[in-house]
Amino acid sequence: MRIVKDIAELRAVLGEQRGSGHRIGFVPTMGNLHAGHHSLIARARQCCDFVVASIFVNPTQFGVNEDFSRYPRTPEEDARGLAGNGCDLLFLPDVETIYPFGAERAVRVQVPDLGDILEGASRPGHFDGVASVVARLFNMVQPDAAVFGSKDFQQLLVIRRMARDLAFAVEIIAAPIIREANGLAMSSRNQYLDAGQRAQAASIHATLLWMTGQLDAGMDSPAEIEAAATQRLAKAGFDPDYAVIRCAEDLSRPPQTGKERAVILIAARLGGVRLIDNLEWEPANAGH
Ligand code: PAF
Repeated sequence: MRIVKDIAELRAVLGEQRGSGHRIGFVPTMGNLHAGHHSLIARARQCCDFVVASIFVNPTQFGVNEDFSRYPRTPEEDARGLAGNGCDLLFLPDVETIYPFGAERAVRVQVPDLGDILEGASRPGHFDGVASVVARLFNMVQPDAAVFGSKDFQQLLVIRRMARDLAFAVEIIAAPIIREANGLAMSSRNQYLDAGQRAQAASIHATLLWMTGQLDAGMDSPAEIEAAATQRLAKAGFDPDYAVIRCAEDLSRPPQTGKERAVILIAARLGGVRLIDNLEWEPANAGH
């Protein structure tokens, strides 16, 4: 696997690949890779001839009191994992390559409405940072397809919307959430949890399943399910941020229960660690 740090070299390598008629797949990451990331590489491999991953801990998507400085950085281990997992090129830019005029003064991409609710409301500016860095990376790599994990469901929608609105010729592929045996969604932030908290954190997935069970049973008041789920999380020792049922298209409103695709999203803190997870849900008679 080739490791490239600057844009000119990246473009030269990818130009050759494109010239050979190869389809380029891209998996942007912030590193500290786990099985969830490796599943994204595997997904890109399925549909592309040449797979590029990037590792860049993006300062503009972290709020002032968030974990940017302590975000785990493990580039050597990540590179070994990627090389062993079928990645062809690792793009490892430094901050000056991504933000040549400085991160503070950088041109920003905003995704109105969708970027302002839920995660965007809890973490103001977060999705501006995500959309801004992904737009830059798309410009640098110019992939045919890019793979994103569904764990960050709202991020996935933000990126789809950004790519469509800015006419990036890239297919956005959603890959399924990879979970630990107890249901906990894999995340780099799980390593901030001790063994007891990891076991406790399984309650998030259990609560999501309980909420889908309520929808399956025909319970047609999302607000009541959300209130009960929030209580369950609080009882299990979490400080819940939200537990909501939204239309899967743009998360802007509750779904028409029994009629349209929904997604259930939870964000909750456990001992100061903020965890997010979601489950998609379809009515039994969807499309009939
Ligand atoms: O999901 C992530 O790891 C990041 O938000 C992304 C998409 C790499 C942008 O920095």
